[in-house]
Amino acid sequence: MYYIDIITLFPDTVGDVLSESILGRAQERDYLRIEAHQLRDYTVNKQKQVDDYPYGGGHGAVLQADPLYRCWEYLCRRGAGKPRTICLTPCGKTFTQADAKRLAWEEERLILVCGHYEGIDQRFIDECVDEEISIGDFVLTGGEIAAMAVADAVSRLVPGVLSDPACFENESHWDGLLEYPQYSRPEVWHGRAVPQELLTGDHAKVERWRRKQSLLRTRQRRPDLYEKLDLSSKEDQKLLAELERELSRPVLPRPVECRPAGEGDLDAMEAILTQAKARLLPIGQWSVDYPAREDFIADMARGECYVLTCGGQVGGFFTLSARPEAGYAAITDGKWSSDEPYAVIHRCAVAENWQGSGLAGEMAAAWEELARAQGLGWLRIDTHKKNKAMLGLLRKCGFQYRGNVLVEAQPPRDPRRVAYEKKLKGVGQR
Ligand code: ADE
Repeated sequence: MYYIDIITLFPDTVGDVLSESILGRAQERDYLRIEAHQLRDYTVNKQKQVDDYPYGGGHGAVLQADPLYRCWEYLCRRGAGKPRTICLTPCGKTFTQADAKRLAWEEERLILVCGHYEGIDQRFIDECVDEEISIGDFVLTGGEIAAMAVADAVSRLVPGVLSDPACFENESHWDGLLEYPQYSRPEVWHGRAVPQELLTGDHAKVERWRRKQSLLRTRQRRPDLYEKLDLSSKEDQKLLAELERELSRPVLPRPVECRPAGEGDLDAMEAILTQAKARLLPIGQWSVDYPAREDFIADMARGECYVLTCGGQVGGFFTLSARPEAGYAAITDGKWSSDEPYAVIHRCAVAENWQGSGLAGEMAAAWEELARAQGLGWLRIDTHKKNKAMLGLLRKCGFQYRGNVLVEAQPPRDPRRVAYEKKLKGVGQR
């Protein structure tokens, strides 16, 4: 059994708080005994006065040594040996999880002394107190809240109090790291989805994601703790390199929305088109003349052209059509999975400043949503085999390579394309 005795002017409040819930159950099961003692019961004057003015002057009053000593001595006499005596004061050493662990594992009896008024007569501290603890760089009206915090933090680490030690082994401060973010049902709340990694059921993936989040939080919120971490393992180095890349990505302004493009979007689209051509001209996917403003105007007239806006600004565009693509029938080196109706994507690009921001992924999600809304169960797309960015996006979004196709394209464009498709779950039959 672990004993914590608290010397206070407010034993009822302190006792009530510490006998709730987990600590209450631990006391019923005899793992723990927490008792709060009324300091006034240890006075010898009729008024039960425990404080007096400070020598040297100044405002407020000081808790006198004698009642504190009487109470402390009584508590010491109740068991064998002298309990570890701790005084709660803003002048103390800042309490940490390492202190909680040490007190829970190395001691079996604690006396917590709550200061009040302007402080405690130093002679009691010198004679009886082993350590002075502060719970942070702020001043409370008394030591009670601090004593309750220390008693709670120590108690939950006393063996047997928590049913499963795994409860605290992953939490903040256990190994010098802050804990990762937690999520519970539902999967989407107010439009905010639970991170994909936590839904995979892949334990190693979940652990990796959690470690990465812990590292990120600790670095951003507690550089003092982060500095002390040993991050030399290969796994941590890999996670840190990933974090580095992710943090240098531009942050996408919200909301991100997809809507049919209109003539008023053409200038913004053309600016993005010029940037995209600079990337796609050298590989021969696009040319100076293709695609042209007229191609987008024609797409708009058919209601097939869309823009993606982020924070109200056009950040990308694409064309989604339900009309079968002529060149796709003659696929070589493979075949399409189905001849069911499909949506085909053409002429898509994302603004240079949003590359790597996740906007392309949002665009791919918009393709799916639009195809579904039209009752189409398949998406098809072709790209040039040297278009690394598009190939990466397609693989990431679950598209499958199906074969090679030729598109209508005059020199200097290269008509050879790799063809991909994706089955949209829950639409049509396979
Ligand atoms: N008493 C008043 N302020 C305190 C603090 N920050 N920590 C511990 N005891 C206190």
